[in-house]
Amino acid sequence: MLEGKKILLGVTGSIAAYKTPFLVRRLIQSGAEVKVLMTPAATDFVSPLTLSTLSRSPVLSNLFDEATWANHVMLGRWADLMLVAPLSCNTLGKMAAGLCDNLLLATYLSATCPVMVAPAMDEDMWDHPATKNNLEIIREQGCAVLPVGFGELASGLTGEGRMLEPEEMIGALELYFEKKSSLNGKKVLITAGPTYEAIDPVRFIGNHSSGKMGYALADVFRERGADVTLVSGPVSINGFHPGIKIKKVITAAEMYNACMEAAANYDIAVMAAAVADFSPSVVAEQKIKKEEGLLSINLEKTKDILAQLGNVKKPGQLLVGFALETNNEKANALKKLEEKNADLVVMNSLGDAGAGFGVDTNKVTLYYKGGKEKAFELKSKSLVAKDIVDSITELLK
Ligand code: CTP
Repeated sequence: MLEGKKILLGVTGSIAAYKTPFLVRRLIQSGAEVKVLMTPAATDFVSPLTLSTLSRSPVLSNLFDEATWANHVMLGRWADLMLVAPLSCNTLGKMAAGLCDNLLLATYLSATCPVMVAPAMDEDMWDHPATKNNLEIIREQGCAVLPVGFGELASGLTGEGRMLEPEEMIGALELYFEKKSSLNGKKVLITAGPTYEAIDPVRFIGNHSSGKMGYALADVFRERGADVTLVSGPVSINGFHPGIKIKKVITAAEMYNACMEAAANYDIAVMAAAVADFSPSVVAEQKIKKEEGLLSINLEKTKDILAQLGNVKKPGQLLVGFALETNNEKANALKKLEEKNADLVVMNSLGDAGAGFGVDTNKVTLYYKGGKEKAFELKSKSLVAKDIVDSITELLK
């Protein structure tokens, strides 16, 4: 699993750094390529000479040596994964704050590769609210945080805070790379955002959907190796990954057509868009003037994309819907699951603070065909997206 993987190991100033020569040795034995970065404090705990010998590559520690500048940007591009092990409290705080006073931090801040950390500290530091808070911040920044072990600590006390053993870290890396390729080659269709239904050239019927949930899902599916097509209504999200095929649409009818084009070819479809249920039956060609006295707008039902995908679903295709509810959440979600022939419905309720439109967090419950259900805590939409993709991946097995 680690054969040919490029691992950038960042070592920080913690007594647990004594384990890193064993870790580097195991990585090299597993066929990985390793480059080591050290903070200045780390060199007090383990010798750069040991790590450069074992990694078969010079250890980098300074942003510049006399006349040479270390290219931290290219280091992050070179790596398949940056692993910071051990992660000291000090470096954790600096990562969370975006500080950049050494090569390891500069590399972290410019890393385009995924980052994993293995914390190591005494139990009282591990339990401190500042540490918990900083870990939460770097998780939000996208870092995978490995657990700590329980046992004898440098202080002589026994408790939580030990860095994982090299063998456990190798196991975690193997699992990580396995997960990363778990959806290789799977075709995923996602809808996101609102739709706008024109009343006249100026006005439309829309809703508050920001598209953040659907975009977060697209990102996670792509990270796991899937071939992602995102059909997006009008949103103000710009920075999507170039690996995601994006089809921009405005209306429910356009979204329907784009999805139907992909209906025969997807493996997984996730309908996260807040599609308008009604559209004006006539769109005025000119701006409607108030003197004309508009009394009512005639609406007609839009086509239900999820329901139609459910109608034409082929064996092996997995169809996931969303249900945004305000009341009778479970009953409404189960009704949608059944009526639209979905395999899974992700329910979020506007009754839950922090869930739904316009916010960066969400709280979801999954309802499966067959009666199973799974509830999650309030989390950022990117972490919710990971939970949803993990659950879908389990279903595929
Ligand atoms: N959906 C869809 N096409 C529509 C309407 C909804 O694909 N024209 C999808 C949504 O993307 C979502 C699911 O159906 O995955 C449920 O959407 P929701 O708005 O919660 O429910 P509706 O079916 O529209 O029913 P209601 O508005 O009455 O709750």
